[in-house]
Amino acid sequence: MTNPPSITIMGLGYVGLCTAVSFASKGFRVSGYEIDEGKVEQINSGKATFFEPQLDTLLERSLRNGFVASRKIMPADIYFITVGTPSKADGGIDLKYVRSASHDLGRSLRNSDGCRLVVMKSTVTPGTTEKVAAPIIQAESGKAVGKDLGLVANPEFLREGSAIEDSLKPDRLIIGEMERKSGDTLLNFYGTLYRNRMPEVLRTTPVNAELIKYANNAFLATKVSFINMIANLCQKVPGADVEVVARGIGVDNRIGMAFLRAGPGWGGSCWPKDLRALKTAFSESGVEAPILDATMEVNESQPFRLVEAAKELLGDLKGKRVAVLGLSFKPDTDDVREAVSLRVIGALLDEGAKVSAYDPAAMENARKVLGGKIAYASSSVEAIKDADCCIIMTEWSEFGKLGPEDFRSNMKNLVVIDGRRVYDPSKLSGMRYAAIGLNRTQETRILGGG
Ligand code: UGA
Repeated sequence: MTNPPSITIMGLGYVGLCTAVSFASKGFRVSGYEIDEGKVEQINSGKATFFEPQLDTLLERSLRNGFVASRKIMPADIYFITVGTPSKADGGIDLKYVRSASHDLGRSLRNSDGCRLVVMKSTVTPGTTEKVAAPIIQAESGKAVGKDLGLVANPEFLREGSAIEDSLKPDRLIIGEMERKSGDTLLNFYGTLYRNRMPEVLRTTPVNAELIKYANNAFLATKVSFINMIANLCQKVPGADVEVVARGIGVDNRIGMAFLRAGPGWGGSCWPKDLRALKTAFSESGVEAPILDATMEVNESQPFRLVEAAKELLGDLKGKRVAVLGLSFKPDTDDVREAVSLRVIGALLDEGAKVSAYDPAAMENARKVLGGKIAYASSSVEAIKDADCCIIMTEWSEFGKLGPEDFRSNMKNLVVIDGRRVYDPSKLSGMRYAAIGLNRTQETRILGGG
């Protein structure tokens, strides 16, 4: 093994590319294996394949540091598997990319010598690293895993929108080692990467590491569904406001402030898929998961609360123009995978409304899903022009800058439904405003009637 070790990242999707450039920008010799030729070319030309803050700058720096994407697996000391694990129809995860990456990697290691380490970063159900990846790598490489070749499950916790930051400053490292030596090798690498900012480390078995990742996402989703459930009650209790309730419980450090922002529900490429996979793991083990069921159930109905609010304020939505601000599943990303905006738009269209939408980054991706069903505006002001109602779906910072004047001078009907609590209702006097988790009795009081 060279010092510092050389790295190959297997799969340049979200986690793979962000991980690759984070390592390469710190001076490590990194290459990326990717089977999609178009992606390889685009990355090597310095253009990231998706939007993520800081990514373009880091990619440029990485390419200068010798990072290269390739359809071949470049020999390295440490291989990180970062391929996708999409949902199957039954809710379980499809391991075809894990299998093919393990196969390709095993093949490429057949004639190599020296001690190598393989790190499973993809989110995989318990047992996958040892029972699926290890036998394939072993069979294809002719090397004994745990002896000639190390294998560690090391789940990734980066968030879209802050992926680079999370990758460079993680709060913990979960090292699921099959044997001590592999864990030591990976920790040595992380020691060189993070130096005096070494995060907290938990060393455990691969199965526990795999479970930690699922339990982590499921717990956070439960926290959000919980506050969304409380928000729904707040809306019915005169004078109640979920923001205040969330602040009040969040200061209890046993609960914590994070992930208590009530909204129209959670989406994205990870939580929905991971919760379905976890649910399948429970079912397959014959264990009930009522909390998981409730977390998913709350999330199923949550987006439609916004449509209900629009109907309450406007009556029949048939023929009404509704502006939807925000299409990505959260701010600072162009990702619309399982975004709740798509479900809200679907429901609005079913009600006969005409939708005009705007998002600072996700227009192209939304267009691929929604096609000609809605109108695409080039700015938030254009989206609200002549609208009967404006629904805030994603808390992009630029939406918060829209002031009462923008609404007054552009909208036909002054109705704002704030799905993300972007506005201070006291500054929207004269407008009809409804928000997640805010009782309208209070709104009436603040706005002085109407
Ligand atoms: C999530 C986890 O936070 C990461 O740790 C994990 O690595 C990642 O999944 C993954 O498994 O790959 P991400 O999907 O990027 O990251 O998004 P989050 O920031 O966790 O948000 C998830 C959803 O919950 C979003 O739709 C967001 O709008 C919503 N949310 C989040 C709320 O509605 N309220 C909150 O208080 C927090």
